Amino acid sequence: MRVLHLTPELAPWSKSGGLGDAAAALAKALALGGHDVRVVTPLHGSIPGREALPCHRERLDVGVRPADACRVRRAAGSHGFAALFIEHDAFFGGREIYGDPGSAGRRAAFLARAGLDLCLADGWIPDVVHCHDWTVALAPVLLNTVLRESPIGAAASVLTIHNLQHQGLHGKDIAAYLGLPEWVVTPDNLECLGGINFLKGGLYHATRLTTVSPTYAREIAGPAHGFGLDPVIRHRQADLEGILNGVDADDWNPARDAHLAARYSASDLSGKASCKAALQGELGLERDPGIPLIGVVARLWEQKGLDLALEPLRTRIRAGQLQLALLGSGDSALEQAYLALASAHPGGAAVRIGYDNRLAHRIEAGADFFLMPSRFEPCGLNQLYSMAYGTLPIVRRTGGLADTVDPWTPGAPDATGIVFEHADSAAIAWALGQALELRHRHPRELEAMRARAMRREFPWSRAADRYALCYAEAVRQRRGAFAPDKTDAPTPGSPTNTRKAPAKAARKA
Ligand code: ADP
Ligand code: GLC
Repeated sequence: MRVLHLTPELAPWSKSGGLGDAAAALAKALALGGHDVRVVTPLHGSIPGREALPCHRERLDVGVRPADACRVRRAAGSHGFAALFIEHDAFFGGREIYGDPGSAGRRAAFLARAGLDLCLADGWIPDVVHCHDWTVALAPVLLNTVLRESPIGAAASVLTIHNLQHQGLHGKDIAAYLGLPEWVVTPDNLECLGGINFLKGGLYHATRLTTVSPTYAREIAGPAHGFGLDPVIRHRQADLEGILNGVDADDWNPARDAHLAARYSASDLSGKASCKAALQGELGLERDPGIPLIGVVARLWEQKGLDLALEPLRTRIRAGQLQLALLGSGDSALEQAYLALASAHPGGAAVRIGYDNRLAHRIEAGADFFLMPSRFEPCGLNQLYSMAYGTLPIVRRTGGLADTVDPWTPGAPDATGIVFEHADSAAIAWALGQALELRHRHPRELEAMRARAMRREFPWSRAADRYALCYAEAVRQRRGAFAPDKTDAPTPGSPTNTRKAPAKAARKA
């Protein structure tokens, strides 16, 4: 199949979180599976060596109003798939991937249209357009409207929700910018709170929907995790499935990881102790092989629940019962709170604010436990990486965390981590207590759990096979929607269906 991916971030060129990893690893796995894959993403100002990337198209005219154009570059070397970068410095030349919120709507609209126009200009017409998150969620709307009669108009579309919280609420001028017809700018469709909700548009218009774990697929159909779009999710539930992310073993594998002080595997974990000692040394923590070391690598936003972990961690660190190695950035009050914790307990807590891929690898390897107290977590990659590194995850039972970590109770034969229920400090304090009990009272079980966690496999090839089935179904549905005798049938994801979206659902959204 020919598959076009549209994504705002693509590792290793650009990454702010798991989406960059997931888009790249999925594209690679699909290409290895024999599909013809192109990925279109912005040429962000932060991409190293961006001016030296070979030119794919000196000029691409993009059908926005007023008319605009960009250059398209491509990645040098072989990645299995073609990585194509939209170069438009006024939009994407900054160092931040998501950048100035004031122009975010236009930037995102431009990216979606440019990705589709590039296919038309190259005469490379995909069977499926796979969109990742809100920034490119208007591509299915374009396929159902202004591009419907063009050669790409029959392409099926798949929208993956990596995070329902970020929806892209922007002004109605976006409709004019993209030349969208009036019928899509209604409360039953793209309109939301007087503006346009990009993700809502994608949810109505994509042929099929996916999200990144089965549990999150269920959670977002309810108000607690639906962020106002749960009525729309319920409306499209028959076309939604949860497909777990994976681990790219070329990047995250302790047996081959060049970032580590020592390498190790499930059959010989001895190198892990050297990684812990090296991490303690590098971060100025007391060099104690016996004290449990908790690792955290995360965006410090509300989603991740690290505000709730501050006091429970402080109590244990003050008592000298555990150490903390935290890397992250985000909310400045939370950054300051963790920095204050580190300066109050220099040998017990180390906090690095910023983005550092090398240190992220070294924390995954050097820590004993990895803490993810998320309020919600669509999939989560870090708990998968920590299991691959024999570092036991301590997670809240939500989303992909619930689907990938098996909870410990003494003697539990399948346990791979510690799982707690509630998003509050008491539950996190309990979970830290469980980690200490496991470490001190059940050390043999702990070692067995490490090896078991390392042997758990989350290959991207498995996810890619599921996506391939999803694409085949999307193509079938799209063909059905285009069949001459079916034009009035309310096929999900077709233009006819999107006109019939329930007004009540959309009003709530
Ligand atoms: P999310 O996408 O919600 O941030 P995930 O667990 O899916 O959560 O993925 C996070 C990814 O981003 C992981 O690869 C993690 O190592 C990386 N990451 C997050 N914060 C940092 C940071 N400060 N420095 C380096 N890598 C980071
Ligand atoms: C989002 C989610 C995270 C997921 C990642 C990749 O950023 O917050 O849970 O793992 O996307 O799908």
